[in-house]
Amino acid sequence: MESALDYHTARALLEWHVELGATEAILDAPVNRYDAPKEDPKKKAAIAQAAPVAPVAMPKIDPVAEAQKAAKAAPDLAALEQALATFEHCDLKRGARNLVFADGNPAARVMIIGDAPDREEDREGKPFVGRAGHLLDKMLAAIDMGRDVPLSKDAVYLVNPVPWRAPRGGDVPPAVINMMRPFVARHVEIVAPDVLVLMGGTSCQIALEQRGVNRLRGTWQEALGKPVLPMMHPADLLRRPASKREAWADLLSLKAKLEDAT
Ligand code: URA
Repeated sequence: MESALDYHTARALLEWHVELGATEAILDAPVNRYDAPKEDPKKKAAIAQAAPVAPVAMPKIDPVAEAQKAAKAAPDLAALEQALATFEHCDLKRGARNLVFADGNPAARVMIIGDAPDREEDREGKPFVGRAGHLLDKMLAAIDMGRDVPLSKDAVYLVNPVPWRAPRGGDVPPAVINMMRPFVARHVEIVAPDVLVLMGGTSCQIALEQRGVNRLRGTWQEALGKPVLPMMHPADLLRRPASKREAWADLLSLKAKLEDAT
């Protein structure tokens, strides 16, 4: 039966029932199993004796290989966004409202690779529009940079390496990290920035295949053919304001790197 509820409302309702302890889906009205028609024992025996039906072999799909194929075929940003929009192998897509691709100036020297979108970004389909995004804008303004700056030398380009929100904003599963890596690599190739900033654990896992942004932050490395600087994600800085001092040091390191390279 078609439901009058949309996908998100139905899902939220179901999750609420699960939180209340429901473990089984039942019907609106009770069913009296004693009234059910009795099974014909001859028919049952005939079914049991019938030759077993050979299972149909489903072709095995490798989502990482599919992602590589789709990403490689994209000649430009519009095609890459379209390739993600039509990529059907990531379960996160089914629970998300919008695909959150990128914002800012694609001609910028700095490409910032964030995390998966949060609630606000999922709703608006635009990266870094929630509280973490406002903090990021302030951090960038402090070094005279920003996403709306037309001059490529002071501009940034912001990317969500995972374009769909994880359920309840939780961690991105490793299988998704692996699936998204080819899209991120192609994104970097197309935009061709001078440097990458890896903001948070997810982008470190994607670009460096390493965990632990607390340990990695502040040290320049090479990845995806570019110098990369891991930094704390602004959402983490909101939770741990004491880390803002380290974030400031990292911003100064970014600024110095850009000045060195001019
Ligand atoms: N965190 C990100 O990395 N990107 C967003 O768009 C929002 C939160």
